[in-house]
Amino acid sequence: MNANSLAGRDCLRLLDLTPEEFELVLQTAAKQKADWAAGIHEAPCAGKAIAIIMEKPSLRTRSSFEIGAYRLGAHPLVMSDDHSAFSRGETVQDTTLVLERFVDAIVLRTFEQSKVAEVAKWSKNPVINALSDDFHPCQGLADALTIVEHKGTLKGLTLAYVGDGNNMAHTYLEMGALAGMHVRLGCPAIHMPDARVVAECEQLASQAGASIEIFENAAQAVAGADIVLTDTWTSMGDEDEHDQRLAEFEGFQVNGELMARAAQGALFMHCLPAHRGEEVTDEVMDAPYSVIYDEAENRLHAQKALLSLLMGAV
Ligand code: CP
Ligand code: NVA
Repeated sequence: MNANSLAGRDCLRLLDLTPEEFELVLQTAAKQKADWAAGIHEAPCAGKAIAIIMEKPSLRTRSSFEIGAYRLGAHPLVMSDDHSAFSRGETVQDTTLVLERFVDAIVLRTFEQSKVAEVAKWSKNPVINALSDDFHPCQGLADALTIVEHKGTLKGLTLAYVGDGNNMAHTYLEMGALAGMHVRLGCPAIHMPDARVVAECEQLASQAGASIEIFENAAQAVAGADIVLTDTWTSMGDEDEHDQRLAEFEGFQVNGELMARAAQGALFMHCLPAHRGEEVTDEVMDAPYSVIYDEAENRLHAQKALLSLLMGAV
């Protein structure tokens, strides 16, 4: 019998996890990563199958889930773009109830959070949000793992996110609240995060001795921060607004001058894909303090841990 409290559960956003479960995923990821590097190649999900449905483009998420499933011993069933499970208009109910006859977990990247929630409602097996318009929990787990690797801890650190109050901003608010971090956002007034997400995170943050501060400029958010993060100003689905957004985000670029306001030894992070020269300069992306490729690699380790815990395999 497996005593892990995550077995059989879904992860549609980071707040689906308790602070203890969030920590468990990170510890499991660190252990599995070290084991793999040491040549210990266990396959805890042998004989299982995982559907990976991509309704938006992806490099990191698709690669890391597909290779992660393979390394866990499970078969990855990838359905993407025009050939995704939902592309012919079949209902979410019918699609999910058919798919669950074949697979043991469903990973879904889509637009509306409500669609991920509906799949989870119908599926008796775990469902993982691989990015929606509102949240990107797998990226949050990978980023937390990366911060722990470089800083030794999460608790008490100051994380500054500069840019769009989007799915990544929401995810960092949730990460900080779960891990006891001080989260500062610097966003243009017209691109603030969802007030409901902020309120939920503020409630949890206050219990954890953490804090949330939201500014309408980048410099205040970054002052003295231990970690500086940004994301594209034009998320998937916003492409038609690209030129308008370039103007709306003026003054929110992460460049060398902004990084100089952060704490000594501060890290730069970006979930990628980056639009170099827009939200971030080459100078910052390629600096010694930039950990963007560690962050990308850790998608694999964080998701392997999440999958094996939700599937009750560890
Ligand atoms: N960071 C991330 O989710 O990248 P992809 O869109 O390439 O999957
Ligand atoms: N905010 C971005 C994140 C990409 C990983 C998007 O939704 O496109």
